[in-house]
Amino acid sequence: MKISAIILAAGQGTRMRSSQPKVLHPLMGKPLIEYALQAARHVTGQQPVVIVGHGADQVRQAVGEAGTCLLQEPQLGTGHAVMQAEAALSGQADLVLVTYADMPLLSTGTLQRLIDLQQQHNGPITMLTLLADDPRGFGRVVRDASGRVQAIVEEAQATIEQLTIRELNSGVYCFRVEWLWPALARIPLSPKGEYYLTDLVGIAVAEGLSVQAVPASDPAELIGINTRQHLAEAGDLLRRHINRAWMLAGVTLIDPATTYIEPEVLIGQDTVIWPNTTLRGRTVIGENCTLGPNSILVDAQVGSQCTVIASMLEKAVLEDRVDVGPFAHLRKGAHLANDVHMGNFGEVKNSYLGPGTKMGHFSYIGDATIGEEVNIGAGTITCNFDGERKNPTNIGDHVFIGSDTMLVAPVTLGDRARTGAGAVVTKNVQPDTLVVGVPARAIRRLKKNE
Ligand code: UD1
Ligand code: CA
Repeated sequence: MKISAIILAAGQGTRMRSSQPKVLHPLMGKPLIEYALQAARHVTGQQPVVIVGHGADQVRQAVGEAGTCLLQEPQLGTGHAVMQAEAALSGQADLVLVTYADMPLLSTGTLQRLIDLQQQHNGPITMLTLLADDPRGFGRVVRDASGRVQAIVEEAQATIEQLTIRELNSGVYCFRVEWLWPALARIPLSPKGEYYLTDLVGIAVAEGLSVQAVPASDPAELIGINTRQHLAEAGDLLRRHINRAWMLAGVTLIDPATTYIEPEVLIGQDTVIWPNTTLRGRTVIGENCTLGPNSILVDAQVGSQCTVIASMLEKAVLEDRVDVGPFAHLRKGAHLANDVHMGNFGEVKNSYLGPGTKMGHFSYIGDATIGEEVNIGAGTITCNFDGERKNPTNIGDHVFIGSDTMLVAPVTLGDRARTGAGAVVTKNVQPDTLVVGVPARAIRRLKKNE
């Protein structure tokens, strides 16, 4: 059977108290709506339809190619929202799945179960419910004496008796399409001037059709985000879920409670992560690494057997056996080859450091290409900016840069060149040559292995 998904995202999200549409607030680095888009695409195999309204332009932009946005204007309730998709979807599918953009923890497994159950069901609706003691303002599922679903009543309309019902409507449904479109037109206007999707349950029952309600095995998946407190709760659950999965996959987390790993991150076996470490974006970590304590990696690529202590890496690449920190800052385009050692208080930006190169203390390396086994003395600076342009520094293999050398770019140092402590290098240095002073001048050729 073909299945289409509709994601409702037109609501205002007043309780977030935000100038930003609710569904664009990030949860572990990704906008809420992205979770809904991914889950829907996963179970239907096609782009979902997204109903937008409040903040439509911003939401549309965030959805991009990942869905077809349809405008609901004005927003006259959840039933009215689904009506907007009829023209786009009619004839497209046999079943329609309805989900919310503010329910990021809803798993593909749960959605798949809902679809499977509707496929085996004779009636037109299968709905996902939850059993909970805290009703959170959700609609109540009313069943008759023999357990058959009769209706959903919204909290505002519920009788005192109905208010005690513990089975709640999650708002996620799977509908048989040929029944859905004509039935939507039969939803009456509510006293609040809205068309409630939930009324479809009573409509089906009145037509003698059966409605199936299935309680979710994990009610936490159905947390709808309405406030920033809900956002934090969902973040906490998701973070713990991700951390647990990595521990089961062979990664040691010394303190999972203070370890933050975003969903797209990948980590190799036997890597150990110390407390207060944040791995963000598309960070990839190899095997047998030691990260943290106190490290932040954003879109970083780290090979195997690397060590990163109390440092920040943004869009940086480390090959294997690289050690970094404490207190190192690797910025965009930093690439440290095998066995590089980068000690404390260093910054590297848009630069390649060849295999075995060492920069132990207090250096800034920007826009540089550095060969292998180079020693970068304490306090070395590439003076890469002349006030207008960023200029390159090129350093050959086996070069020895004395402490406190200023490399005034553009400048090139040949293989095995050396600079004296405090040199200010303004001109290119030939291979095997020692330069000293301010400005640096060559004082002699170096002998082999000197
Ligand atoms: C709805 C259900 C309720 C259920 C609850 C679960 C109805 C009438 N009630 O109530 O039974 O327990 O969800 O969370 O459906 N939306 C639109 N357009 C609209 C109105 C809403 O796109 O015109 C979207 C909102 O962005 C939101 C979702 O639909 O994502 C739910 O709307 P909301 O107003 O929050 O419904 P609830 O009152 O929570
Ligand atoms: Ca809601």
